Amino acid sequence: MQKLIIQGGVPLHGEISISGAKNAALPLLCAALLTGESLKINNVPALHDITTMLSLLKQMGTTVSASGAGEVTLSAATLTHLVAPYEMVKTMRAAILVLGPMLARAGEAEISLPGGCAIGLRPVDLHIKGLQAMGADIHIRHGYIHAVAKKLHGARIVFDIVTVTGTENLMMAATLAEGTTILENAAREPEIIDLANCLKAMGAKIQGAGTDIITIEGVPSLHGAEHTVMPDRIETGTFLVAATATGGEIHLKNTDAHLLDAVLDKLTEAGARIDSNGNWINLKMHTKPKSVNVRTAPYPAFPTDMQAQFMSLNCIADGTAIITETIFENRLMHVQELKRMNASIEVEGNAAIVTGIAHLDGANVMATDLRASASLVIAGLIAQGETVIDRIYHLDRGYENIEGKLSALGAQIRRIQ
Ligand code: UD1
Repeated sequence: MQKLIIQGGVPLHGEISISGAKNAALPLLCAALLTGESLKINNVPALHDITTMLSLLKQMGTTVSASGAGEVTLSAATLTHLVAPYEMVKTMRAAILVLGPMLARAGEAEISLPGGCAIGLRPVDLHIKGLQAMGADIHIRHGYIHAVAKKLHGARIVFDIVTVTGTENLMMAATLAEGTTILENAAREPEIIDLANCLKAMGAKIQGAGTDIITIEGVPSLHGAEHTVMPDRIETGTFLVAATATGGEIHLKNTDAHLLDAVLDKLTEAGARIDSNGNWINLKMHTKPKSVNVRTAPYPAFPTDMQAQFMSLNCIADGTAIITETIFENRLMHVQELKRMNASIEVEGNAAIVTGIAHLDGANVMATDLRASASLVIAGLIAQGETVIDRIYHLDRGYENIEGKLSALGAQIRRIQ
């Protein structure tokens, strides 16, 4: 198994480019199932989750051609195998995103029911309830969701919890349904706007993406299009936290400050000086960070996918911070690992109380999920001595060439087999 070895204590300096967003690219690739014509997606990041999604789409009958430069062309002229098997869904829960498009286009779908995962139970009941409201007949048998619908129809669907992939799944399904679908209490994440823009380029009629009410008027068919994936706001935020924690100065290209207002506010509160314009962000940190309280909530509030990284920053900040996780019930797994590096953290329910100390100690730690892994990388960068991170396959699911980008910023980091 591969590991990352980090010699801490080097402030990050320099310039790197941010990749396309994983959480936007995954639903965008699934949108290809909605049309028999070609869909070209640019700026697709080279990540394990993307490879898994492309394998899944291929085995369903989609033709995929990918250039080395992040350009992927998909053509789902005929769907031959309407199944998402357990082996794929268990490694990537976002595979559930094929359910809505497959059902809307082909009238049936069979998808392994995702189980719980390291960060929580993560049911998909709202995806299923929404499709049932649109006329689908759905049964769970032998661990699989079996869905059939001759023709989906429009419906008014009120989510009782804000769900990102749930909103995306139903928005895609509704594009080909008969009549109008209204999604209320919809997720407002920028990735939903990105998906809606691509669907509109394919001929879909969608209004309100980015607000909590999305209205989709079904059309008989969609056509081919070309779309460029938005920048990854979580990768952007992770590098900004790493620069703040190490007292560095970095310039990020191909990103967008407007995508992460809540994160930039917290970094400014911690003492960072941030400038941005158009598609770049510059961050300078010349003081010891101040502790910042964080409470996760759906967009535009502070993202759960940045919680673990801020935990590491608070470990060496001046003062005490409370980090409250409200989205997932088990997303504080990194605390135990950070404590092995001497961090002072107490967990009470869904909150962690972090008291800043002078420095972390390098140690052997284990990555437990994607963003927890990122927090351990940041902890390794600020620790005294050597940190060895095991199980880094989690990182490769969501960060493109992380050690290459960190090395370009001066970090002492290498990967070993
Ligand atoms: C997406 C993101 C993930 C991010 C999360 C929250 C992708 C591919 N992944 O995950 O990186 O951490 O949003 O911002 O975009 N829930 C239900 N029933 C459902 C669906 C969700 O109870 O049918 C609950 C979940 O258990 C969780 C909450 O709703 O507690 C939000 O989850 P959701 O927004 O659906 O997360 P994902 O879309 O899986």
